[in-house]
Amino acid sequence: MKNLLQFFLLFCCSAISGLSISAQQLTNAKKADSVLSLMTLEEKIGQMNQYNDDWLATGPVTIDTDKASQVRKGQVGSLLNCLGTQRVRKWQEIAMQSRLKIPLLFGQDVIHGFITTFPIPLAEACSWDLDAIELSARIAANEASASGINWTFAPMVDIARDPRWGRVMEGAGEDTYLGSKIAFARVKGFQGKKIGNLDAVMACAKHFAGYGAAVGGRDYNSVDMSYRQLWEVYLPPFKATVDAGVATFMNAFNDLNGIPATGNQYLQRDILKGKWGFNGFVVSDWGSIGEMINHGNVGNEYEAAKAAVTAGCDMDMESRNYKNNLATLVADKKVPLNLIDDAVKRILQKKFELGLFDDPYRFCNADREQAALNNPEHARIARQVAAKSIVLLKNNGRLLPLSKETRTIAFIGPLVKPLKQNKGFWDVEVPGVDSNFIVSQWEGLVNKVGKQTALLYAKGCDIEGNDRSGFAEAVSVARQSDVVVVSIGERRDMSGEAKSRSNISIPGVQEELVKELLATGKPVVVLINAGRPLVFNYIADNAPAILYTWWLGSEAGNAIADVLFGDYNPSAKLVMSFPHSVGQVPIYYNHFNTGRPATSDSNHNYNSSYNDLSIYPKYEFGYGLSYTDFEYSNLRFSSNTMKQGDQITVSVTVKNTGKYGGEEIVQLYIRDLVASVVRPVNELKDFKKLALKAGESRELNFVIDREKLSFFSPDPLDGTQMNWIAEPGDFDIMVGASSKDIRLKGRISLLY
Ligand code: NOJ
Repeated sequence: MKNLLQFFLLFCCSAISGLSISAQQLTNAKKADSVLSLMTLEEKIGQMNQYNDDWLATGPVTIDTDKASQVRKGQVGSLLNCLGTQRVRKWQEIAMQSRLKIPLLFGQDVIHGFITTFPIPLAEACSWDLDAIELSARIAANEASASGINWTFAPMVDIARDPRWGRVMEGAGEDTYLGSKIAFARVKGFQGKKIGNLDAVMACAKHFAGYGAAVGGRDYNSVDMSYRQLWEVYLPPFKATVDAGVATFMNAFNDLNGIPATGNQYLQRDILKGKWGFNGFVVSDWGSIGEMINHGNVGNEYEAAKAAVTAGCDMDMESRNYKNNLATLVADKKVPLNLIDDAVKRILQKKFELGLFDDPYRFCNADREQAALNNPEHARIARQVAAKSIVLLKNNGRLLPLSKETRTIAFIGPLVKPLKQNKGFWDVEVPGVDSNFIVSQWEGLVNKVGKQTALLYAKGCDIEGNDRSGFAEAVSVARQSDVVVVSIGERRDMSGEAKSRSNISIPGVQEELVKELLATGKPVVVLINAGRPLVFNYIADNAPAILYTWWLGSEAGNAIADVLFGDYNPSAKLVMSFPHSVGQVPIYYNHFNTGRPATSDSNHNYNSSYNDLSIYPKYEFGYGLSYTDFEYSNLRFSSNTMKQGDQITVSVTVKNTGKYGGEEIVQLYIRDLVASVVRPVNELKDFKKLALKAGESRELNFVIDREKLSFFSPDPLDGTQMNWIAEPGDFDIMVGASSKDIRLKGRISLLY
């Protein structure tokens, strides 16, 4: 044992000093085993313990005055919210004073960029541009890793169908197919070519599982759902992250069918580590191990720690329940040592993969940090991604794009001049780094227009409150202009964690302001900034042009100006249905038909509808306009029938019939007409984003295979498990510009 210890210390020291040693040839698993064999139980439990650094919190804080001495004793495996190479280096130096010199992991919520802020994930998802999405995660990883971080708590891959839930801003919307593709792209982006590269961080798929289905959209609330819905709708994006090689998972605050996700064996051991063979580690959400007591599923911290570790939760974020209870649980023989060993081995393996045993300071190069956090290329890409995320909801009379020759433009509203609002909910501030490099919407317009254009400004009103005293000035400014652009919406922290809202209308008197501006008779373009689908019927019905600009990040102003003036032709399409009123929530496109389907708004007679509401959303999933028009024609199938192992190629021609070059997101939906369980009225099964010049047309092909015709069916031996099956029968194949705007339709059959 003594020899082993000496060998290990020699291994660490020589690696740190740059000498190459033969132990590097061992696999990471073997290396982890060798370290594990040297560890005391206390040190093992230390690896499973993660603390918040003292100066920034993203949850309720436990004051701990001796964190440093705990790190020195090897009682901490990871820190979160520790920013900047200097600070990371300091903590790592303390870890290097511990007996076994096991380096710390540094985790951070790098959700939509690091210093360069990208659009909030929900907005970015509207680009349906997987390359752009991967690239933005790549850049975020590049900056974060240069700043000492080696682990991001992203992507959030929770499917979300309820815009009251504040965290819809953090995911990819309501659709499982698109959400899975985006989840895959984001993991690839964060982790780069491989973990261990200097520009990569470990990704973390969260929140496992079902968090997006919290009852009533109230954050942290319960989730009750069938196994079918869990497997079909909520789990596939998580599986996609495993397929992409995600390093870590985070469990969730919610209970799932009565068992808190944090202590849920079915999710973590049976599905994730069992069926899916995930070999990374699972971290709890902030304090969620201790919160199982509040759930009422365990009586005290001792039981909470036991439930979580037994269920497969490897690391405790902030609750201290592992630190305070695991040793006793092992001594009491309530938790077998091999569970602890398995957890610790998973964590150590990742530390080896990251190269931290070779050099614990490898992410702490201040020069690299300086260069990465000031890279103008990152801003250029952020601007492109932001423009791709803006959804054109309405453009009556082709008011947009605006002419660059316009003489006078009034730019009005509470969101025109603020900087930080554009960043959205999750932003990162590194001490000593200017993280407020943001192009305001005003500055974006100033940058865009020439000297011949006069830009007038009035705030009009605040985001919230009833103060209408600025209306008169706004109206007067509008009257002096040729075109009015008005920027309204939520505050950036009105959506995000713990930001659920029962009222999702445009806050304050902003909609009234728009009404007054419309009354001037001037052409009005409305920009709506938000982290969720909002309700804004008056504007939707009366304003001639609307751009949904979400929160676009550092380059918001430039991107908005690019779209307003047609330097970028908007191509984004909604990834969540926008309701007419909160009473329609949850509303999503891939619902079942029911036995009494409602088919029109003029008939509410004994069918599945509200008597006082439309059956349709205000804007449906997949909807979004362009400055040009696209015509779909010539739907062809290589065959109308297929056997289980066959494929059918679906071909369609898309033509840009307008005056501008543009991109179209062509969507393929399928409906399984009769099956042993009811199937949705349509389901997205593929899409292609293509760029066409004015007048250009192109043929697109989609491949339909067994996979696209399959659904989950309960395992006959175990109803909690599902098998992916395709049943013979007829399927409608629909190609369209949105889930409602189906342009072409045909039918194929899967034969026995
Ligand atoms: C709680 C959030 O639910 C989770 O997503 C986040 O990563 C942690 N806090 C850490 O900030």
